[in-house]
Amino acid sequence: MIERNTINAILNAADIKEVIGDFLTLKKRGANYWACCPFHGEKTPSFSVSPAKGIYKCFGCGKAGNVVSFVMAHESMTYVEALKYLARKYHIEVRERELTPEEQAVNNNRESMMVLSSFAQDYFSEQLWETPNGQAIGLSYFRERGFSDPVIRKFQLGYSPDLRTALSEAALKAGYKKEFLIATGLSVERAPTLLDRFAGRVMFPIHSLSGRVIAFGARTLKQDRNVAKYLNSPESEIYSKTAVLYGLFQAKNAIVRSQRCYLVEGYTDVISLYQAGIENVVASSGTSLTVEQIRLIKRFTPNVTVLYDGDAAGVKASLRGIDMLLEEGMNVKVALFPDNEDPDSFARKHSSSELDDFLKNNEQDFISFKTKQLRDDAKNDPLKRAELIKDVVRSIGAIPDAITRTVYVKECSRLTDVGEDVLMREVAKLRHEKLYEGSRRPPATGDQAPPETVPQPVPLPGFIEPNRYFASSEEEIIYYLLKYGMDPLFTRTGDVAPATQRLYERYGLNLARPAGGEDEETPTVSVAEYIMSELLNDELEFTNLHYRQLFEEYARLTENENQERIKYFIHHPDPHLSALAIDIMDKLPPLTVERYIVSTEPESLQAPRVIPKAILVYKSRIIEVTAKSLADQLQAAQTTNDEQHVQELLERLSQLNEVRTRIAKALNRLTF
Ligand code: CTP
Ligand code: MN
Repeated sequence: MIERNTINAILNAADIKEVIGDFLTLKKRGANYWACCPFHGEKTPSFSVSPAKGIYKCFGCGKAGNVVSFVMAHESMTYVEALKYLARKYHIEVRERELTPEEQAVNNNRESMMVLSSFAQDYFSEQLWETPNGQAIGLSYFRERGFSDPVIRKFQLGYSPDLRTALSEAALKAGYKKEFLIATGLSVERAPTLLDRFAGRVMFPIHSLSGRVIAFGARTLKQDRNVAKYLNSPESEIYSKTAVLYGLFQAKNAIVRSQRCYLVEGYTDVISLYQAGIENVVASSGTSLTVEQIRLIKRFTPNVTVLYDGDAAGVKASLRGIDMLLEEGMNVKVALFPDNEDPDSFARKHSSSELDDFLKNNEQDFISFKTKQLRDDAKNDPLKRAELIKDVVRSIGAIPDAITRTVYVKECSRLTDVGEDVLMREVAKLRHEKLYEGSRRPPATGDQAPPETVPQPVPLPGFIEPNRYFASSEEEIIYYLLKYGMDPLFTRTGDVAPATQRLYERYGLNLARPAGGEDEETPTVSVAEYIMSELLNDELEFTNLHYRQLFEEYARLTENENQERIKYFIHHPDPHLSALAIDIMDKLPPLTVERYIVSTEPESLQAPRVIPKAILVYKSRIIEVTAKSLADQLQAAQTTNDEQHVQELLERLSQLNEVRTRIAKALNRLTF
């Protein structure tokens, strides 16, 4: 772990203009520097660097970030790698935090296991290239498969001799401990000896993102059907198969460059495509795709193309898995290879340009692909058709972005002749069910009875569909949280208008005292506390997941992280959060409710008025949408004569109306 002080020193020293200037030619215009954006192709510069704010932003593609995230994105580095890069540039000594003895032990183990894995990789490669058996059996196998020597070296392929103890003995002799041979799974204990797990196989080392060997896949050369074709290293402290993608280390730069990642099934598919010039390719070898793996890809690009071999059963089985990619907000395309071909065999039979053409011509968008597959299956069978609709709706429902969903509903409607409105309704229903489940929380168990002046929580549904109607309110609230969170809500007593004061008394909130106020008894309410209590009391959660994540992390920050919360988020290691913070802070002050008032008052003095207002506006929007949904439900319940339900709904509606009136009044009072 890099020490916090070191990180601060790096961030203070790193001049964003200099750092980016090492990679791009920057031209000064106004206060900022400009260049052509390295993240998307363009001819006129729309990529700006602001030395004052310490951020960059591209007005073309929207990519934005700080000095660390630039190095991460441009050089495909992890957070720690980027920090170390900057430290070297600015001659800052990187001090790693002292580890506890337990952490030390775990680290030492991991380190020992990686060093041993690297030793084993060297050993297997040496066997492959330098020994008669290795050459005759292993190397000739790879060459017969069409792998070129440079590619064999690039992927560090190897050969494990067909002797029961070759590697184990070599490793022990070189001083490696038995304990780690067993922990990495390279050896299996058969007292009193250690046996090589992978004896007689060709070896595919698996690398971490930074290129260290952490495991192996090992293919048998025997035809025997009773022998497993591939043996893989077991899970260990350094290898979790669900969190690793084969080939990602070799592919990451190409993925960033091309803004696309090809996803295939096996080791050999990766290597053959790589050799054919498609370097942006990875495999989720041996497991079905996991969320962790998807997020790994997402660090480099949101665009994935899944390459299937042409057997129909395989395609159907994996259709489901793809919904997960959609759920993570990835743009998914698929390409189907001809019958009995996998990417590996296809790449071997065709030239690179044929392969390129094939991918270009056969790549299709996933939802359309799936709809067509199922449609052809279902043809004249109405039952199957119903299934098909459900199935496609499930995929569309998985997509987080509402606009993208609409586009797909249109497309799917065109392909299936089912009305857009029907599909839309099904998608909405499904999302409602799914998200409602996820966002319900147990009722708060407050240990104190709320003061009488505090109104009952607004009865709002646990889930509300994220949409643009809420987005502007949510964004505004986040803006206040980031910019003024630690300020007392009221800076000078004089600034609090009597109407606001009454409102606050009504809501049972304590007004903050002026800074340095004498009355220590009255606790001050910071902007953050106010916003949090307002949202939490009504069990409201932001509908936008990124805002929600930011809000939750903000709430978890401890007091000593109080200062510079904006900085904290602008320099957040999660690129989404830092981009979000940068984006929000970069905008003009929202003050959307004050839009029509030209005010000469400094923003900070408006805070006591506009922040409560923003919250009220947000709540009234939610209530409006909720009321609409209740009214719809009411109508449905009335047509089915569901008396009891009708009664319940009427009650909720009238409660809601009360709250609505109350909020309207409060809003009126705040408009002066
Ligand atoms: N796999 C595995 N264990 C097995 C079989 C397969 O881990 N017993 C994984 C491997 O990562 C393999 C991938 O699943 O690369 C795809 O399997 P398959 O298509 O059978 O292997 P290929 O990569 O096509 O290997 P080859 O062409 O050498 O048969
Ligand atoms: Mn194959």
